[in-house]
Amino acid sequence: MAAKIKRIAINTGGGDAPGLNAVIRAATIAAINRGWEMVGIRDGYNGLFLPKEYPEGGVVPLTRKSVRGITHLGGTILGTTNKGNPLRYPTKAKDGTMVEKDRSDEIMKAFKKQKIDALIAVGGDGSLSIAKAFADKGMRVVGVPKTIDNDLSQTVITFGFDTAVSFATACIDRLHSTAESHQRIMVVEVMGRYAGWIALESGVSGTADVILIPEIPYDIQKVADKINDRTKNGAKFSIVVVAEGAKPVGGSTSVIEKEIGRAERLGGAGEFVTKELQRITGKEARCVVLGHLLRGGTPTTFDRLISLRFGAAAVRALDEGKSGIMVALDPPTVRYVPLEEATKRMKNVPMTSDIVLTARDLGISFGD
Ligand code: F6P
Repeated sequence: MAAKIKRIAINTGGGDAPGLNAVIRAATIAAINRGWEMVGIRDGYNGLFLPKEYPEGGVVPLTRKSVRGITHLGGTILGTTNKGNPLRYPTKAKDGTMVEKDRSDEIMKAFKKQKIDALIAVGGDGSLSIAKAFADKGMRVVGVPKTIDNDLSQTVITFGFDTAVSFATACIDRLHSTAESHQRIMVVEVMGRYAGWIALESGVSGTADVILIPEIPYDIQKVADKINDRTKNGAKFSIVVVAEGAKPVGGSTSVIEKEIGRAERLGGAGEFVTKELQRITGKEARCVVLGHLLRGGTPTTFDRLISLRFGAAAVRALDEGKSGIMVALDPPTVRYVPLEEATKRMKNVPMTSDIVLTARDLGISFGD
């Protein structure tokens, strides 16, 4: 039988998402109610294995007081990072070049030193893969699925996504009037990495005319044809939603930069589509990149509730002796899935998705 839990830790990793604080609050209160101590690790794992950088403490006690009034706040009170994956930590080699070094053993030692019996790791695919490595090394770990991208396969939804999509839809709504006033093509680029969920759901809800997603490589001429058809039929403006990971047929994803030890940064897809459409149709076009605006703000009720449910369920899972699992939404319940399954593959938009079919029935073009 697993040793009794006395003290657990929680951390938040990867890009922030609305709902992180709600998870922290729920997990902290549920742990305290079991007589456990709860600590928060700052900035992913940095607070644990780079103590010199945290003179005020990289591992901080979380109390009822420290989590009071945070449920509705965006961001994370613990901080986060999507740099310096501890399994592939950027390190200067003897010859001066930067190489990746596995520092997970140092973290395992730090867990012991801090008397941390178990970890709740809140994150997306990257952070959950890191969490899995610690579970494999013997740490008791429960993952909580976070990401505005909604690209984790073993949960119906991740928290943060609903807030991001709701905001993107509100932005698309607002762009209609200016697009119409100026008779322009308005291109809206949204985040989502290699999955088109945000673009698809906000595009359909916001009644876009064209939606370009990574799962369906587009032909720019077909997009221009759709816009020209609209013009012929009397519509003087068009709204085009572009996922940051969208790519033309035979082309590649637009990448801004690739740094050692972190995921590549995407960007530029919207600007490319805008220029091309202006060139082909002769119509004036403007590009709006929603970017990090999608990650901010107060979580929607839906996101708050699943975040609170996930936080509490993570503590329940530890209390039940579970480890190496992720809590996942499987309505009407929250179930546990092995971290291994959770991190094996991405959840892309399937071509048979009812939302894709709905879009097609409504005459929305995917540029294919
Ligand atoms: O994974 C969340 C996300 O917001 C992606 O949609 C986006 O590509 C990426 O993070 C941006 O990361 P950064 O904060 O490094 O710009």
